[in-house]
Amino acid sequence: MSRFQIAIDGPAGAGKSTVARLVAKQLGLTYVDTGAMYRGIAWRALKENISISHEDALSALAKETQFQLENEGIRINGQWLNEELRTPQVSQLASAIAKMAKVRQALVSKQQEIARYQNVVMDGRDIGTHVLPHANIKVFLTASIEKRAHRRFLELQAKGLSVNEKTLQEEIRKRDENDRKRKHSPLRKAEDAILIDTTEQSIPEVVEKILELCRTKV
Ligand code: C5P
Repeated sequence: MSRFQIAIDGPAGAGKSTVARLVAKQLGLTYVDTGAMYRGIAWRALKENISISHEDALSALAKETQFQLENEGIRINGQWLNEELRTPQVSQLASAIAKMAKVRQALVSKQQEIARYQNVVMDGRDIGTHVLPHANIKVFLTASIEKRAHRRFLELQAKGLSVNEKTLQEEIRKRDENDRKRKHSPLRKAEDAILIDTTEQSIPEVVEKILELCRTKV
């Protein structure tokens, strides 16, 4: 049976997960946060002391890990994880692990399997180009780096964490560069994706734009 699929890609901090979660809720679709899957492998690698140089061990970890994607977050091997996946250490390691072809293959096949049985809103870096090339709707969300860093800064501040905005900006810039320049499935806009720049747009405006796109497709 053919499924309804919305693919949302873009650089770090462009608002993908917030927008994707809201669109999924509105339409009653399953939200799949693929970044959380890469983060989950990074988190497990740190816990189990697996070095970044052991690509085979990391890809075995990716194959054997069970993910349950829910609108509010993710369970990894049954354990509910949220803030643990958002630390700078996990972010950096996830971005390094995401360069590895074998890890990507393992996670991409799990992502495709989820989309085989459910209607999904999936966000990441390679969803429209690689994971769901036939998605009904493809969106590429972007925003200026200053705006993306500022949003992340406000998010962390609201959680009571004190962070330097310039440091955040540098961290995001590095992750973007890693994602854009990597050999396997680099971050890029699919040719048939709609570009939405969120620098000057609110989350509800972007969500409405995507819902409007969906209305024209059904
Ligand atoms: O989206 P998020 O920032 O949580 O993703 C964490 C990292 O996982 C990204 O920096 C990126 O390197 C990687 N990633 C990826 N492909 C995806 C989703 C995330 O390479 N589909």
